[in-house]
Amino acid sequence: MAQTWTPNSWRQKPIQQVPDYPDLAALETVEARLAKYPPLVFAGEARRLKAALANVAEGRGFLLQGGDCAESFAEHGADTIRDFFRAFLQMAVVLTFGAQQPVVKVGRIAGQFAKPRSSGVEKQGDVTLPSYRGDIINGIEFTEEARLPNPERQIMAYRQSAATLNLLRAFAMGGYANLENVHQWMLGFVKDSPQAERYRKLADRISETMDFMKAIGITSENHPSLRETDFFTSHEALLLGYEQALTRVDSTSGDWYATSGHMIWIGDRTRQPDHAHVEYCRGIKNPIGLKCGPSMTADGLLELIDILNPANEAGRLTLICRFGHDKVAEHLPRLIRAVEREGKKVVWSCDPMHGNTITLNNYKTRPFERILSEVESFFQIHRAEGTHPGGIHIEMTGNDVTECTGGARALSGDDLADRYHTHCDPRLNADQALELAFLLAERMKGGRDEKKMVVNG
Ligand code: TRP
Ligand code: MN
Repeated sequence: MAQTWTPNSWRQKPIQQVPDYPDLAALETVEARLAKYPPLVFAGEARRLKAALANVAEGRGFLLQGGDCAESFAEHGADTIRDFFRAFLQMAVVLTFGAQQPVVKVGRIAGQFAKPRSSGVEKQGDVTLPSYRGDIINGIEFTEEARLPNPERQIMAYRQSAATLNLLRAFAMGGYANLENVHQWMLGFVKDSPQAERYRKLADRISETMDFMKAIGITSENHPSLRETDFFTSHEALLLGYEQALTRVDSTSGDWYATSGHMIWIGDRTRQPDHAHVEYCRGIKNPIGLKCGPSMTADGLLELIDILNPANEAGRLTLICRFGHDKVAEHLPRLIRAVEREGKKVVWSCDPMHGNTITLNNYKTRPFERILSEVESFFQIHRAEGTHPGGIHIEMTGNDVTECTGGARALSGDDLADRYHTHCDPRLNADQALELAFLLAERMKGGRDEKKMVVNG
């Protein structure tokens, strides 16, 4: 029988990845302050996202989730947010066309500040300091002062999240996300791309569709859905004291919701079924994600599904698979079969970033070809198993960084030093992210044609 859940019942459980705050009284004071601050998102919005994800789980939609590996205080600004959103929306249009299904848009943004680390300490020369755990906890500079966890950073992260979300809401609803704008940006990208020839076919078909709609009188003036979009936020729920402070009762349903973001996920390092992170997440009603790496067993997954989604509600749980391009074929089929056998309703999403990290010229990087290859395998495997490849989860930025190698501009290991800005893992730049969307859309279309041939043939 499950124990009673409360927003702080996780405190009775073993926990991984906790920062060593030097002043626990100061931490408590900050958490008490945060508990009085307004929620960042509302329960009704989280329910709307869950309903959209339920459609994805049933095969009638596609999830696009992406953003920084780690948001930073230093890079907080209108331009960064706008450029991210601009790239993200272009991906969404291309994928909507490719999938011929609604794309559920979820950013890794407005709260993605806390990072799990493989080691609690970092050594440089003779000096050993606490590892950087994300701007919500400590600073990235390699000094004793910066690396000391400081609870005041939680207040800063909350305020940055509020400001980011405010701008994103304005962009999503205030005209910036107008399909006609996004379409024009997308054409600009295609024109400038070294792969212009390859992408033009798909771009032209989107243009024709837009022209057709206009011809029959469907415009953004008379159809708000063409100028507005639903955009949701998400982050890893790693720093549970912060999450608890923003956990609120929804007055209409009496249920508890995390109000730090619409969707939160559990990392591959903190998914022990009897530990704190799973305990916290089981009690809130938001849609949640669960990262699944190579060490996830079929039985372990089924156990977690029962804890996190006992009612088998579609849209509640998204499995974010991150195996690596060379391991996905070994691990994904066995998990799919277990989930299918037990009739569990999940969204299958592919994170092609985290299993494909390598070191090159002393930089952590990810080859674009491997990222693409993992997503392609993910699609093929789902096709073979008769299940729905429901989405992708990527680390990306709207800026012109040089963090992942490859892509149409063939970024090499020697280019990495030019604009390597990430606070944690290497991200796709705007062009690489959009290329990925084009290449996937091509394949989605190919998959549909294949199906039609089977039906007709
Ligand atoms: N409202 C629709 C949607 O969100 C169409 C749309 C408007 C759209 N602006 C967009 C789609 C920008 C993708 C990107 O799907
Ligand atoms: Mn990452």
